[in-house]
Amino acid sequence: MSGAPVVRVEGVWTAFGDNLVHRDISLTLQRGAILALVGASGCGKTVLMREMIGLQNPTRGRVELLGENLATADAQTQQQLRNRCGVLFQGGALFSALTVFDNIAFSLRELRVLDETLIERLVAMKLSMVGLDTSSALLMPSELSGGMVKRAALARSLIMEPEVLFLDEPTAGLDPVLSEEFINLLRALHRELGFTIIMITHDLDTLNDLCTHVGVLADQRLVSFGSLDDAIACEHPFAREFFHGKRARQVFRHTH
Ligand SMILES: Nc1ncnc2c1ncn2[C@@H]1O[C@H](COP(=O)(O)OP(=O)(O)O)[C@@H](O)[C@H]1O
Ligand SMILES: [Mg+2]
Repeated sequence: MSGAPVVRVEGVWTAFGDNLVHRDISLTLQRGAILALVGASGCGKTVLMREMIGLQNPTRGRVELLGENLATADAQTQQQLRNRCGVLFQGGALFSALTVFDNIAFSLRELRVLDETLIERLVAMKLSMVGLDTSSALLMPSELSGGMVKRAALARSLIMEPEVLFLDEPTAGLDPVLSEEFINLLRALHRELGFTIIMITHDLDTLNDLCTHVGVLADQRLVSFGSLDDAIACEHPFAREFFHGKRARQVFRHTH
């Protein structure tokens, strides 16, 4: 199924009781893309991402991940699909009772097929990949700075060598310098490992510097899906405000 899109969302509606969150959302994303989903707080970005991973079912419509229909896939297929995805949820929460090493090793140990020597090697590789030195593996999450937490969480999400990386507001809470470092790290890893990235972000620099695709959620709909230029040209009031505010004009001035 290597020719299948990474994600295909078709006619998805999502409602929680009376709260209609998505109205007929459709999108297709090919391998290697870097998609940013933007939209106002509470508009349903995280829910859409959870639906793409199969952690939540839409009320209506279908979602295919890596060529499999999530609604009809059996439990084993769902687990296999999840093993092919890395996920970094909002806040990048690590297990607070585990060391950095044990956090990163967690999914590998769950497989119950690898010995500890190999696990140690794989964790060390991921640590160096995200720019953390081996001594930080022994620290507890509470002993890490904000930037280190993100890197450790990224290492954990990369440990299974995912084909798709889902990131929910990965740079939220980082100062501009750390945020830029994190984006540069993502770009380098994307180039090296060739995975697909689906992220939620409000960060204009990330959109400008990293993403190949931008999706804009507003009024329960995907009001724009395409290039950053498409999003900038979108007439929806949310998009007008988001892509044409003062800060946006500074960021996009030179390139768009
Ligand atoms: N499990 C749930 N049960 C009920 N309502 C939910 C649930 N998850 C999300 N919602 C609602 O769905 C809407 C979209 O939430 P979310 O996707 O988290 O927004 P955001 O775009 O900020 O990520 C919100 O109104 C939220 O209250
Ligand atoms: Mg959210």
